[in-house]
Amino acid sequence: MANNDDQFKKVISHAKEYGYVFQSSEIYDGLSAVYDYAQNGAELKKNIRDYWWKAMVQMNDNIVGIDAAIFMHPTTWKASGHVDAFNDPLIDNKDSKKRYRADVLIEDYCAKIEAKIEKEIAKAQTRFGNAFNKPEFISTNPRVLGYQEKINTTLSRMAKSLENEDLADVKALIEELEIADPLTGSKNWTDVKQFNLMFGTKLGASAENAMDLYLRPETAQGIFVNFLNVQKTSRLKIPFGIAQTGKAFRNEIVARQFIFRMREFEQMEMQFFIKPGTQKQWYEHWKETRLKWHLSLGMGNDNYRFHDHEKLAHYADAAADIEFKFPFGFKELEGIHSRTDFDLSQHEKYSGKKLQYFDPEENKNYVPYVLETSIGLDRMFLAVFSNSLQEEELENGTTRTVLKLPSVLAPIKATILPLVKKDGLPEIAKQIVEDLKWDFNVDYDEKDAVGRRYRRQDANGTPFCITVDHDTLKDNTVTIRHRDSMQQERVAITRLREIIKHDTDMRSWLMKIK
Ligand code: GAP
Repeated sequence: MANNDDQFKKVISHAKEYGYVFQSSEIYDGLSAVYDYAQNGAELKKNIRDYWWKAMVQMNDNIVGIDAAIFMHPTTWKASGHVDAFNDPLIDNKDSKKRYRADVLIEDYCAKIEAKIEKEIAKAQTRFGNAFNKPEFISTNPRVLGYQEKINTTLSRMAKSLENEDLADVKALIEELEIADPLTGSKNWTDVKQFNLMFGTKLGASAENAMDLYLRPETAQGIFVNFLNVQKTSRLKIPFGIAQTGKAFRNEIVARQFIFRMREFEQMEMQFFIKPGTQKQWYEHWKETRLKWHLSLGMGNDNYRFHDHEKLAHYADAAADIEFKFPFGFKELEGIHSRTDFDLSQHEKYSGKKLQYFDPEENKNYVPYVLETSIGLDRMFLAVFSNSLQEEELENGTTRTVLKLPSVLAPIKATILPLVKKDGLPEIAKQIVEDLKWDFNVDYDEKDAVGRRYRRQDANGTPFCITVDHDTLKDNTVTIRHRDSMQQERVAITRLREIIKHDTDMRSWLMKIK
């Protein structure tokens, strides 16, 4: 695919054309940064959620799952620090009247320098061929070193200014770097201001008695306020975890990049409660475990990297992102945060209730420390979908568009096709659908020539096409075609279940994490 922008546009249009993601309320011209998942998208999203839930909850004896409400008592957000500190630094362009996140403008500036580094590497790779030593090149080439130095100094100055709430310096940095409005090129900026990201709403029938609420900006707090209830009713001993998936809402200033940054999105979070002092060890454990989960999907080891936070959130003593190579570059996909005892202590303080654990080994009570893993389901969806969409040159000189979704996540596992719409073939194909649908999400397709149907299923991400033809009438065999290799084999109808299961069963995919 031509360049990253074109590739990303293709991802968005393919997601719409094949029933994965639609803009919300499209007939009213849509709602910015809000999206609906369509028939295939809802299945893919559910499969990603299940893959996470199984790996985190079902496969770990000491992790349980809950489903807390979106509405929470408003004091929750005072205690968690969101009312006072859940802000983004925003800046307006006086000419275009467009609003931006100041930190994102600076990060985008650095991403452009990073793209220059990638270019230098690609050039050198072509020049030196097999003799090319990438690590040595990166650590010695003066131009690359200069670029890297520029990125490092810029990002660390930004982190320091944000940490010190020195918004004037953030603006000064934007001006010194001569960052322009990406849409108009204007450099006429306002001062940088803080903007709270929480959506407010009201609970109650009459205006006088209504209570001000927030839509939760993260699912984590629903776990913290339930910590003791879950611990007592499950009798779990530390270390143990509580997981949940669910909607979160943020009034994002920069709403772009499709489902990467949404105003309504879904998180999959796990809070792991540990003994104070053991947080370093668990931090490393969960970084490694979560990376293995990602790698198990086979989407390319080079597409992931860790990014350690320089600017720590108000609750953390260590934090790292797992970044993924999206079509627009490496960006945060998941966060692993060492949250100390901040949240539970704050809820103790604001609620006046003890949120402590009695440790029988130590024979004392304490507020546990927390290690958090937090991933956006929609962002994971985008990672999977964009990585899977490929344009392939075929041996006969033609190209095909194929959505190489990990088969465990594919919305439809197999489509059954009668070669022609007569001679009893549709009846057999429909019977196969009836038999397989007890175990898998399968589909039936009889429209168009079989070659076109194969292409349609490739683009739809369906791992198997099963064709019923006239030989089926004689020997009860069918042709099964594999999406990625396009290999076809003749198999007995009775073997279909076993073949599909072998490739799509979560068990064999999750085994790779062990
Ligand atoms: N409880 C910690 C927490 O919420 P976060 O880094 O703000 O941490 C965690 O969010 C993850 O949620 C991110 O890594 C990202 O995948 C996802 N996420 C955050 N904001 C998002 C948004 N506006 N749209 C889509 N996903 C988002």
